[in-house]
Amino acid sequence: MRRAVVADLGAVAAILEPYVTGTCVTFDEVPPSSADWERRLDDADARGLPFLVAELEGAVVGYAYAAPWRPKAAYRHTVEDTIYLAPQTQGEGVGTRLLSALLDACTVAGVRQVVAVIADDPAAAGSVPLHRRLGFEVTGVLRDVGVKHGRSVSTMLMQRTLH
Ligand SMILES: CC(C)(COP(=O)(O)OP(=O)(O)OC[C@H]1O[C@@H](n2cnc3c(N)ncnc32)[C@H](O)[C@@H]1OP(=O)(O)O)[C@@H](O)C(=O)NCCC(=O)NCCS
Repeated sequence: MRRAVVADLGAVAAILEPYVTGTCVTFDEVPPSSADWERRLDDADARGLPFLVAELEGAVVGYAYAAPWRPKAAYRHTVEDTIYLAPQTQGEGVGTRLLSALLDACTVAGVRQVVAVIADDPAAAGSVPLHRRLGFEVTGVLRDVGVKHGRSVSTMLMQRTLH
């Protein structure tokens, strides 16, 4: 687990792309461009928030980052986490290690609350147990807030207090 650099962003984009095109796990409908990814990384760096990758035998197999939950000032200590692994890497504990490293880095960055927004989609089946394992609790459901691939998609909110 290490901090992402610009050279990782091609691998990061390749991990997300099948989730964008084939599932409702993410509400992106078009894969983010390389400029979009560079902006996300720059934004994390500028805010002192973590953007991490998991590297296995020299290959980037997953990524996780924290971004502001909402833009208004009083939300300054609250972030949303994002975590994606390549499909062939799932179910082997990498997600647990990556999210755990992200939470440690968030604590160092002064974050107090971490929110996970989990879409109601079979491809996100690992996300609820992953977040529960790391101390997140379900704090809400937003019904039918997304429409993708011809269906309405609800999201579950899970939250973890850091300090
Ligand atoms: C969610 C994700 C990051 C979890 O990472 P992972 O490495 O697969 O998870 P781990 O192996 O560390 O396992 C963590 C827990 O999730 C469970 N789990 C993992 N994959 C699962 C699946 N497909 N179905 C059901 N449970 C699953 C594990 O059994 C474990 O639960 P436990 O603590 O009760 O034993 C990964 O599966 C993934 O990238 N999924 C697709 C993208 C996604 O949903 N991202 C999150 C968006 S909010």
